[in-house]
Amino acid sequence: MFKGKNVLVMVTGSIAAYKATTLVRLLIKSGAQVRVGMTTSAQEFITSKTLSILSGQDVLTDLFIGHTSQVIHIEWARWADVIFVVPATANIIGKIANGIADDAVSATIIASSADKVIAPAMNDVMFHNPAVERNLEILKQDGWLVVEPVVGYLAEGYEASGRLPEPIDILQQADIRLRAKKGQLIGKKVVITAGGTKEALDPVRYLTNRSSGKMGYALARAAVEKGAEVKLVTTIDRENIFGVEKIIVSSTQEMFDVATHEFTDADIFIGAAAVSDFKPAKLAEHKIKKQADGGLQLTLVQNPDILKTIGFSKKDHQIVVGFAAETKEVIAYGTDKLVKKHADMLITNDVSNSDTGFSSDDNAVTILVPDQLPEALPKTTKIEIARAIITRIITLK
Ligand code: C5P
Repeated sequence: MFKGKNVLVMVTGSIAAYKATTLVRLLIKSGAQVRVGMTTSAQEFITSKTLSILSGQDVLTDLFIGHTSQVIHIEWARWADVIFVVPATANIIGKIANGIADDAVSATIIASSADKVIAPAMNDVMFHNPAVERNLEILKQDGWLVVEPVVGYLAEGYEASGRLPEPIDILQQADIRLRAKKGQLIGKKVVITAGGTKEALDPVRYLTNRSSGKMGYALARAAVEKGAEVKLVTTIDRENIFGVEKIIVSSTQEMFDVATHEFTDADIFIGAAAVSDFKPAKLAEHKIKKQADGGLQLTLVQNPDILKTIGFSKKDHQIVVGFAAETKEVIAYGTDKLVKKHADMLITNDVSNSDTGFSSDDNAVTILVPDQLPEALPKTTKIEIARAIITRIITLK
């Protein structure tokens, strides 16, 4: 999202101003060109020197110094593709909401038509002041993306809301929400399964597989980036993704119960979980002890097939997508599964290849759609594969 973009980071006078340094570094790392502006009070908390060295640019602090032949705030305002106001004080929020442009930071913001992200950080009582709440409401109506503060330890020495989220979370949220503004899945519900199911043998042991859940998480992210409401039914608790509700499950039966329930009012189902086909016939109440003859016979029974059940229950407007991890004859088995599971799309991947598939950050897949030629997506990151899959799913609508 920010790669190759001109990003202006405006820092205002909150104790959280030091976190702007991390934000600037993360933006530069993601490939953005970054410039920084600071209010006078921000410079009480961190120096402009720090941010100027980090950004490799002069920091905008004053409307009237330095440039004589240029109207600096207009030039900076036009340069920016995205403006971050991080952290934002009650003062800057009030100024922008009311069109006041009396310093370099507020004048540049008001002169710019860039995408705008604001992350308030202040004392909890200030944050809940009716005027501040009113002003934030105005900013939302004006198209600002407001990154809400989180509950946490404030500079005042107690826990309350008003704390600036970590810069990495601000960036992730801004990235997802800025993309989602133009998303074709706004108002759509997407249910995704992820991870390997766990089939309990006794209170401490279970049967499972090597699935990392990464592909399912990448699909969840790609779907929220398109504006969808996402329910991720997963056995693995990985990172939080803004806009994704994780529902942690363990066994296939649990995943089945949650997924089928969530699917009733969903628009899209994607089965990316590595579901165990079998489970132990009975769950031992206590830990199974060593047997006298040294061996243990396990009886396994079949699990419900989540994808197949959902595939055969879908209504006309609902789209069902499955995955097939295979080690040979990938396309042939995949095509067979597409039919058997009554899916609208099947993504096949060859898990015999150790640098793609399970646990890897990369994947290479083939998209199978009934009556269409297979479409191969060459090896790339799982998030890029996920974006391509979601884009392809949208074309099925
Ligand atoms: O039949 P197979 O397990 O190879 O099919 C893979 C696809 O079916 C995946 O999308 C997987 O999530 C789904 N599946 C399921 N329930 C099962 C077995 C597989 O949803 N019991």
